[in-house]
Amino acid sequence: MTTNPKEIQREGKGTAKLFDERSLAADYATLQPLLKQGLRVLDVGCGTGAISKDIARLIGPTGKVIGIDNTEYFIESGRKTYADTENLELHHADLYTYEPEEKFDLIVSARTFQWLSDPQRAVNKLKSLLQPGGTLSILDYNHEVLEWQPEPPVSMRKFYATFLRWRSDAGMDNRMADSLQELFKQAGLQDIEVLDANEVYKKGDANFEHKAGIWSSVAQMDQIVNEGYISNDDRLKAIEDYNNWISTHAQQMVMKLKEVRGTNN
Ligand SMILES: C[S@@+](CC[C@H](N)C(=O)[O-])C[C@H]1O[C@@H](n2cnc3c(N)ncnc32)[C@H](O)[C@@H]1O
Repeated sequence: MTTNPKEIQREGKGTAKLFDERSLAADYATLQPLLKQGLRVLDVGCGTGAISKDIARLIGPTGKVIGIDNTEYFIESGRKTYADTENLELHHADLYTYEPEEKFDLIVSARTFQWLSDPQRAVNKLKSLLQPGGTLSILDYNHEVLEWQPEPPVSMRKFYATFLRWRSDAGMDNRMADSLQELFKQAGLQDIEVLDANEVYKKGDANFEHKAGIWSSVAQMDQIVNEGYISNDDRLKAIEDYNNWISTHAQQMVMKLKEVRGTNN
């Protein structure tokens, strides 16, 4: 990862834009039936708050959403973009050390646990921030069962396998979606439910090239090269071959996710 402040800001801007494209309906649809008027909601790892702002609209002016993220740039960006959502507050905070003044009816977290190296501690912490009877909902990936149709070029398959190895060596769980249920049990959460929440992108969909292109964006990170996992030439070849595959042979990509929820009885 770069240490150049200008590059950090450029990367931050690009990622903030990606997060701003997310919505509750497209990117956390299974949560919608849980959103009742007047709820107090915490969104953990909210990015810029794009999904948090949709939650705020659904729970109405008697409810409130607090979004926290430990990347300050995303919070600053979201505060400007969603300034007119009155029942949304965004705070720069780390989930492990966050000490809010109030407890929550509902705590949600999308695509954040995949980055944590101590997810059990995180689930325990979030449970401690719930009201009695409150619900914890976590949405995350199993990166090991991603489906591409047809198979993408060898260079990208090699990059992807290397990316997963790099993540795993750094203590991240590539199968987080399938680990959540046990983490919830260990934390003592009750009434645990597991819902399929796969993202399916098909050729012909308006956003197909953009969504399938996520792996070209991931391959832009040079950290994996700097840490000796793959050569720069192989990384650049993966990007080139994959972009070409997307515009020619690609038919479908399915990212596998689950939403797991449980209550604090
Ligand atoms: C992939 S983004 C997900 C953003 C948003 N929830 C979504 O689904 O689009 C993961 C976010 O988790 C944040 N994050 C990672 N570790 C965190 C921690 N320990 N405390 C708070 N936020 C964290 C990152 O800064 C990042 O914005």
